Amino acid sequence: MSKTATLEIDGQKYEFPLITGTENEVAIDVKTLRGATGGITTIDPGYKNTGSCESGITFLNGEEGILRYRGYAIEDLAEKADFLEVAYLLIFGELPNKEQLDKFHADIKEESVVDDDIKKILDAFPKAAHPMGVLSSLTSALTAFNPSSVNVDSEEDMYKTVVKIMGKFPVLVAWTMRKKSGLPLNYGDNSLGYVENILKMMFEKPNEEYKQNEILVNALDKLLILHADHEQNCSTSTVRIVGSSHAGLFASLSSGISALWGPLHGGANQAVLEMLEAIKEDGGDTKKFMAKAKDKADPFRLMGFGHRVYKNFDPRAKIIKVAADEVLGDLGIEDPVLDIAKGLASEALSDEYFVKRKLYPNVDFYSGIIYRAMGIPVEMFTVMFALGRLPGWIAQWKEMRARKEPIGRPRQVYIGENYRAFKALDKR
Ligand code: SDX
Repeated sequence: MSKTATLEIDGQKYEFPLITGTENEVAIDVKTLRGATGGITTIDPGYKNTGSCESGITFLNGEEGILRYRGYAIEDLAEKADFLEVAYLLIFGELPNKEQLDKFHADIKEESVVDDDIKKILDAFPKAAHPMGVLSSLTSALTAFNPSSVNVDSEEDMYKTVVKIMGKFPVLVAWTMRKKSGLPLNYGDNSLGYVENILKMMFEKPNEEYKQNEILVNALDKLLILHADHEQNCSTSTVRIVGSSHAGLFASLSSGISALWGPLHGGANQAVLEMLEAIKEDGGDTKKFMAKAKDKADPFRLMGFGHRVYKNFDPRAKIIKVAADEVLGDLGIEDPVLDIAKGLASEALSDEYFVKRKLYPNVDFYSGIIYRAMGIPVEMFTVMFALGRLPGWIAQWKEMRARKEPIGRPRQVYIGENYRAFKALDKR
C-alpha cells in the first residue's frame, strides 16, 4: 500500500498521507486539504465514507461481522465476562483483576445516590412522557447537582466523574421506569451485584421482598455487554462532538441519549416490537409487510434490519437470537412474536431486495423480545440500550478529551441565494 494518495484538480496534483490502523484499515488524511487547495473541502452526507477520529476502543469489520472491545471478541465477552468488567475494559483499556474490579464497584456504590431534588424534576413530567426524554433531561440535570464533574483535567477527577455516572445512571433508569408505572421511587441494595441491583431497583414492589431471578440477571448482563459500545455510531459521535466543546460528560451523555432515541438508531428496538405486534394483529402476514418495506412509495422500513456498517450478520443479533430462545424457554414463555420475527428474518434473508442491499437483522431485531419476556415495558427498551451503551459513551468521550481533539465543526457547501440588496418592507 503506498504511503500517500494523490488528488488531481485542473492539472494540479495534491498529495495526502495515507494512515493505516492496527487492523489494516486505510484512510486518507485530508487535514491539509482546504489549505493546500485554496478552499476545496469534501462532502459526505451521513459520513458514510468519512472517519471522524482514530480510536483504540472498538473494532468492527462489517463485511466479516466482527466486533471487538479493546481487542476482545464480543462472543467471548458476552459468554465469559460480566457487564461491570466490560465497562471497566472499555473505559480504562484493560480487563480488571479482582482487586481493580472490586474497587471500581465499591467506588460506584459510593456514588449510587442521587440528590433528592432530582425527584422534583421527575415529578414535573407527565406520566405519558417518553422515558428517553425523561432520562436525557435527568442526566443533564445531574450536572447541576454535581458541578465538579465538569472538570476532568486530571486522571483522578476523570475517575471520580466516571464512577459518579456509573453509580447514578441506573437509579435514573429505574426511577424513569417506576415513574411511568406509578411505583414509588426507591434505591437498590449495595450488597447486590451491579446488574442484580438494577433489576431490583426497576422491579421491586413496595409491599413484597424482591426475589432475584438468575435467568433475568444473566440475560440483562449479556444484553448490556452486547450494547456497550459500537465505535462511531450516531449517538457516540454525538457524545464526542458535544464533548469536543468541553461541555461536561453528563451534558454530553444527555445529547447521546437524545440521538439514540431516534427509530433509525436505538429507538429501533421499540419500533421492532411495535412492528411485530402490528404484523401479529394483522394476522401474521409477513409477506404484506415485506412488500411495504420494499415499496419506495411507502415510508415503512423493516425495523431491526440493515446497518450502516454490517453488510453481513450483526454478530450481536446472532448472540441475542440464541439468548431469546434460551430466556423464553427458561421462563416458560411462548411468545408468538418471536416466531413472527424468525419467519420475517428467514423470508428477508432469501429475498432479492434484502440480499442485494445486504440487509441483515441488527442488534435491535431480537433484543426487544427478551426485554418483553423480562417484563420491561416497550417504551423502556431504548432506555435499556442507553444503559448498556453508557460505558461505551464514557470511554469514547474520555478518549476524545485525553487526545485533546479539536472542537468538532464540519464545513459545508452553500447552495442558497447569492448576494441580494435588502428590500424595504413596502417594496416586498
Ligand atoms: C443501530 O451505527 C451503529 O453502529 C448503530 C448501532 C449501534 O450499536 O450503535 O448498531 C445500533 O442503530 C442499529 C440500526 C437500527 N435501525 C433500524 O433497524 C432501522 C431500520 N434500518 C434502516 O433505517 C437502515 O438500515 C439504517 C438506518 C440502519 C442504515 O441506513 P443506511 O446505512 O443509511 O442505508 P440506507 O438508508 O442508505 O439504505 C440503503 C438501501 C436503501 O435502498 P435503495 O435506496 O438502495 O433502493 O437499503 C434500503 C434503503 O431504502 N434499506 C431498507 C432498510 N434499511 C435500508 N429497506 C427496507 N428496510 C430497511 N430496514
